[in-house]
Amino acid sequence: MSALAHQRLLIVTGKGGVGKTTVSAALALGSARRGLRTLVCEVNTKERVTTLLGRPEVGPEIGSLEENLWSVDVRPTEALREYALMILKYESIYNAVFGNRLVGYFLRFIPSIQEIVMLGKILFHLREKRPDGSWRFDRIVIDAPATGHAITFLSVPQVVLDTVPPGPLATDATWMRDLLIDPKTTGSVLVSLPEDLPVNETLELHAALTAKIKIATAAVVLNGFIAPRFTDAERAGLPPELAEVARVHELRAHLSAEAETKLRTLPAPLTRVPRIYQAHFARAAIEAIAATLAPLLDGGRP
Ligand SMILES: Nc1ncnc2c1ncn2[C@@H]1O[C@H](COP(=O)(O)OP(=O)(O)OP(=O)(O)O)[C@@H](O)[C@H]1O
Ligand SMILES: [Mg+2]
Repeated sequence: MSALAHQRLLIVTGKGGVGKTTVSAALALGSARRGLRTLVCEVNTKERVTTLLGRPEVGPEIGSLEENLWSVDVRPTEALREYALMILKYESIYNAVFGNRLVGYFLRFIPSIQEIVMLGKILFHLREKRPDGSWRFDRIVIDAPATGHAITFLSVPQVVLDTVPPGPLATDATWMRDLLIDPKTTGSVLVSLPEDLPVNETLELHAALTAKIKIATAAVVLNGFIAPRFTDAERAGLPPELAEVARVHELRAHLSAEAETKLRTLPAPLTRVPRIYQAHFARAAIEAIAATLAPLLDGGRP
């Protein structure tokens, strides 16, 4: 069984700029190709998944990208509105109860409300069923925020449970927390680059997610990997300028190998994603990365 074949919820996180959105897009594309109805969620950020996949933007409403693949940019105002409407049922009552000013007030002053309604929306879709009883989405991929924000975001059900009295909000926070900490449902995918800071942050993130929030690490992706290319003998035979280029390449390959050794201490399979050299980083790159990640996705259904 491969590492990510069975989890319905994949949470992709890591240090800022390491390739979280890229890996999310590739995992979502790969899942959709395997026949899983897949939703990829961005969280309150400038929408990028659709652009990377060469599709028009979808915004805060779920939009279809291609066969088996949907995307949404989850934003707090819309998520709060959906949450409130679920309770209040009718748009007219919602409008009467929440003026725009009041929505702004809630989002700014109630601690954790942004996170809980955004995470709640995503996890709601994870439980949603079609009329025939099958899941609306077989798999959801969250392009989660970077390290510190991801920890805040994912801790929020427990934080709410620790602070609010029993009631509807606590009930929602309970099922949300239980879904997140169930390793059969949820796994994190930690993305790193072959550099010291991202690697150390990945090790810390793993510790925080598993010990504090109790979310299992399902896979580690070493993005931007550079493989060795030249033997010493080949380098010795090169003219000086080219020898220098080759030396720098081998140095970077060495840093990639060092990063891999450190990340392999984590109790989850590691996949290397090569550094891709393309003037325009877009669909073709995501296709190539999806192919590299195939062993993580093959061989099972959630
Ligand atoms: N394997 C790769 N090879 C070459 N370039 C890459 C690779 N992966 C990502 N990139 C480049 O790095 C940039 C940052 O990637 P991406 O947006 O996925 O990172 P991120 O972790 O989502 O960033 P942020 O923290 O800002 O959300 C991309 O725009 C892309 O150009
Ligand atoms: Mg991103």
